[in-house]
Amino acid sequence: MTRVFLSAPDMGTEERRMLLEAFDSNWIAPVGPDVVAFEREVADRTGVEHAVALSSGTAALHLSLLLAGVESGDEVLVPSLTFIATAAAVTYLGARPVFVDCSSESWNLDPALVEEVLVQRARVGRPPAAVIAVDLYGETADYPALESLCRRFNVPLIEDSAEALGSTHRHREAGSFGAAGVFSFNGNKIITTSGGGMLVTGSTAWAERARLLATHAKEPFSHFEHVAVGYSYRLSNLLAALGRAQLRGLDRRIERRRQIDAAYRDGLHGLPGISPMPCTAAGTSNHWLTCVLIDPDCFGADREKVRLALEDADIESRPTLKPLHLQPAFPNAGLVGSGHCTRVFDQGLCLPTGSALSSADQSRVIDIIKVQARV
Ligand SMILES: Cc1ncc(COP(=O)(O)O)c(C=O)c1O
Repeated sequence: MTRVFLSAPDMGTEERRMLLEAFDSNWIAPVGPDVVAFEREVADRTGVEHAVALSSGTAALHLSLLLAGVESGDEVLVPSLTFIATAAAVTYLGARPVFVDCSSESWNLDPALVEEVLVQRARVGRPPAAVIAVDLYGETADYPALESLCRRFNVPLIEDSAEALGSTHRHREAGSFGAAGVFSFNGNKIITTSGGGMLVTGSTAWAERARLLATHAKEPFSHFEHVAVGYSYRLSNLLAALGRAQLRGLDRRIERRRQIDAAYRDGLHGLPGISPMPCTAAGTSNHWLTCVLIDPDCFGADREKVRLALEDADIESRPTLKPLHLQPAFPNAGLVGSGHCTRVFDQGLCLPTGSALSSADQSRVIDIIKVQARV
């Protein structure tokens, strides 16, 4: 039996065909017709005017913050419960992430806490330079509240939608909220280019500046002329071709992940002390990863025991994200909030959810979890 991964790439004949077609075209560079087409197709899919294809989601976060005017010494509000890239991009600019807790009913940024910080900083005349909201595991954050707060305090909002391509909130696509949105296409995401990312924005000026900065700020001269120091952040044309093929199958992948999520909910229903990640009624998730909370006192085993039991059967699962304010990379960072994110980390487990997961493998996962339960 082969190992079951958390979220393995799901490739088909269309991916192979389009990749080889790009190869044969000899556009083997971080520029070419597939880059242009991939940008157009992601922009159309998300309902945002511009998309800029980049080498990673982290690069897209970095450029978004730069465009938002974040500078050395600034503060940027980020959720503590996220992957480190969200906060790493803040530190690339010499700015300081201020870690904010998730709300008690969701695993995303708590708007009430964001308001608390914005009010306090406004009082001392030192507003943060930006707020980054994350759509964790495919669940969208509370954008009506966050957008209205950011408007009120005149602070740019960036949407880290790295995990949420195809999710929606109040009928708007994830990535379309705030001044810029960010997607990741790394190997475990709902669609992948092996590595890659996209910055989406309604601003023509931001899109043009992002393209310039992503290509070493090369000016249109016959010789190399640079008016600024930029980055080598563009996506390869070969990988854009792969991304285009993957995007064509996005809805099928979301539907398969939705079925997997429903089968977990059904299969684990009624077991004591195990509960699914909360989902918002205001939107639809792409179900990137199905995660559960395991209360060891009720369930009879803790999250780690369940993870190791799955590992014994060569099945990958993963603890939910360790909050960033607890990471050694951010010593003495502190947290705004009471620590809901810490409980999510203590009890949370992400289950195999890849769109290529077979029903038989998923049944094995469910059976192994059931064996651990006190019933
Ligand atoms: C929430 C979040 N933000 C940012 C990133 C960074 O994306 P990338 O790995 O493409 O740089 C990821 C994923 O890796 C992520 O999950």
